[in-house]
Amino acid sequence: MKIVVTGGAGFIGGNFVHYILKKYNDYKIICVDALTYAGNMETLASVKDNSNFNFYKIDIADREAVYEMFEKENPDIIVNFAAESHVDRSIENPEIFLKTNVIGTQVLLDACRKYGIKRYHQVSTDEVYGDLPLDRPDLFFTEETPLHTSSPYSASKASADLLVGAYYRTFNVPSTISRCSNNYGPYHFPEKLIPLMIANVLNDKELPVYGSGENVRDWLYVEDHCSAIDLIIHNGKVGEVYNIGGHNERTNLEVVKTIIHELGKSEELIKYVGDRKGHDMRYAIDPTKIHSELGWLPTTTFDEGIKKTIKWYLDNKSWWENIISGEYASYYEKMYGSR
Ligand code: NAD
Ligand code: DAU
Repeated sequence: MKIVVTGGAGFIGGNFVHYILKKYNDYKIICVDALTYAGNMETLASVKDNSNFNFYKIDIADREAVYEMFEKENPDIIVNFAAESHVDRSIENPEIFLKTNVIGTQVLLDACRKYGIKRYHQVSTDEVYGDLPLDRPDLFFTEETPLHTSSPYSASKASADLLVGAYYRTFNVPSTISRCSNNYGPYHFPEKLIPLMIANVLNDKELPVYGSGENVRDWLYVEDHCSAIDLIIHNGKVGEVYNIGGHNERTNLEVVKTIIHELGKSEELIKYVGDRKGHDMRYAIDPTKIHSELGWLPTTTFDEGIKKTIKWYLDNKSWWENIISGEYASYYEKMYGSR
């Protein structure tokens, strides 16, 4: 089996590359990544010489380059992780989100039409469903929840999902879509809540909590996301959407305080800062479908996962210190300097 993993130098794509190469010793992974600010070859350092691994530095919106790669590799499966993924950046500059997340998806789908494919899998997000109110803990996102987006990021991801559905219905491109809740774990870029807070606590820096810190996210350890996608690409039904989440809801403040306590520091590091524009209140996934149809269950609770994640950041300081000492420093100043 030959799998093209787009966005494989990023957080979840990188974890997926490691997961598949470890699990299937006869599968070939073709990693396609433009190496934007979020892509990092260090994440792939331990597999770069593996004979089952190959890398192409390609922008998925570059039709010619994508077609050339398809002609050379003749892949069986595409798993599309490549995206601009950070909500805050989409509020600053929406355009690149449309180019990569929408046009990039369309180019990949066109390549699948032209060259044929066994399966195209779109890695989507629970953010396409919008948000849930804090005072209705009985409500969850199901696959039937209407798309109702809040940020340019989530709007671009929802647009991509609609294109995937349209290419399935109109052109029979055999596709599946997964919509997962917030991931955390190794190789998570430090602009996102959990790695940002770990790095700041370790550096005794202020911990910028948006608004009141009461917003709720449904956290999933990244390896559990990888196992769900593995099941979907092998056993999922084409044309279907699968929600992925493990009922690990926490307020942002709870997450931040857990990290502070695990690292033995003081809650005085917390600084309440201006809220995110259009900030979604609560995400919560109902994973009944993927459990009952494919037998998927997560294996890592939040309490275990956050300990493993903190340990990984302690053991792999050079990975994230290289990031935060580079162009990230000016990003941080721009986003948080006068917030
Ligand atoms: P990330 O930002 O860490 O990684 C994205 C990767 O895509 C990077 O390696 C980057 O270089 C690459 N990339 C960006 N633009 C590209 C382009 N035009 N062509 C080729 N490569 C390009 O993102 P992530 O957090 O790993 O998210 C991966 C996917 O999972 C995204 O599609 C995201 O929407 C989705 N998702 C993320 C989460 C989460 O919690 N992080 C949850 C659900 C779904
Ligand atoms: O739900 C899935 C989504 O999860 C993915 O589709 C996105 O790609 C991914 O980035 C993530 O989006 P969020 O916006 O939920 O994640 P983020 O880590 O940016 O923020 C999590 C929460 O923490 C959110 O309520 C905003 C808050 N936050 C974030 C940062 C970076 C803070 O309070 N302070 C911060 O400095």
